[in-house]
Amino acid sequence: MKRSRPIIARRRPIIAIDGPVGAGKSVAARELARELGYSYLNTGAMYRAVAVAAREAGIDPDAANVEERLKPLLAGLEIKFDGEKIFLNGRDISDKINQPEIGDLASRLSALRSVRERMRELQRAAGADGGVVMEGRDIGTAIFPDAEFKFF
Ligand code: C5P
Repeated sequence: MKRSRPIIARRRPIIAIDGPVGAGKSVAARELARELGYSYLNTGAMYRAVAVAAREAGIDPDAANVEERLKPLLAGLEIKFDGEKIFLNGRDISDKINQPEIGDLASRLSALRSVRERMRELQRAAGADGGVVMEGRDIGTAIFPDAEFKFF
């Protein structure tokens, strides 16, 4: 018999907020998380953190071997949030992620399968216990299709 839901349900729900750039997701997600006492996960910032790591490693997104070069970097990637701050492998990179070139690079890298797979893994781990408001464009569809609450 196939179960569509886990045997043990999450104790607290996952709230997915998906939408395009400039839709006001961040403000809504952050406020909601604060109100509920949940954690808040900005998945766009995670893609931006990958871009910071790739740029620092000198990885050219147009190179034929880009996925090969990203492999060790993605395997060792640790992204943590602390309030408004984001840490890449223990280092505060909050002042770097909003740079326009990092946004461009994040967008290009986000098209790569290996990057999306690693992000999915990290995002699922971060939401496994619920009690999280997760913001992005694929949360309610690809990352947590079984999220208890979805806003598009
Ligand atoms: O939302 P933000 O501009 O910070 O996201 C940076 C880039 O990461 C986007 O341009 C998009 O290409 C990618 N992204 C994604 N899936 C998400 C969040 C962001 O592909 N869930």
